[in-house]
Amino acid sequence: MFVCMCYQVTDKDIKRAVSEHGVGNLRELKQHINLGGNCGKCISMAQELIDNYIVDESLFKDVG
Ligand code: FES
Repeated sequence: MFVCMCYQVTDKDIKRAVSEHGVGNLRELKQHINLGGNCGKCISMAQELIDNYIVDESLFKDVG
């Protein structure tokens, strides 16, 4: 699923940035992925995805 249409960034790209680079917020995400710099419509969804993936990751660590 595309999150940022302007820069062709998918939810998988964001998930990878969280799991592989420890991205925890939008500012850090922008250091790894170019998104949000054009129309900005993707910003809130990108933030939401980061938050969701962090919760997923911490649940996974508790179980594992
Ligand atoms: S959709 Fe991300 S900047 Fe336009």
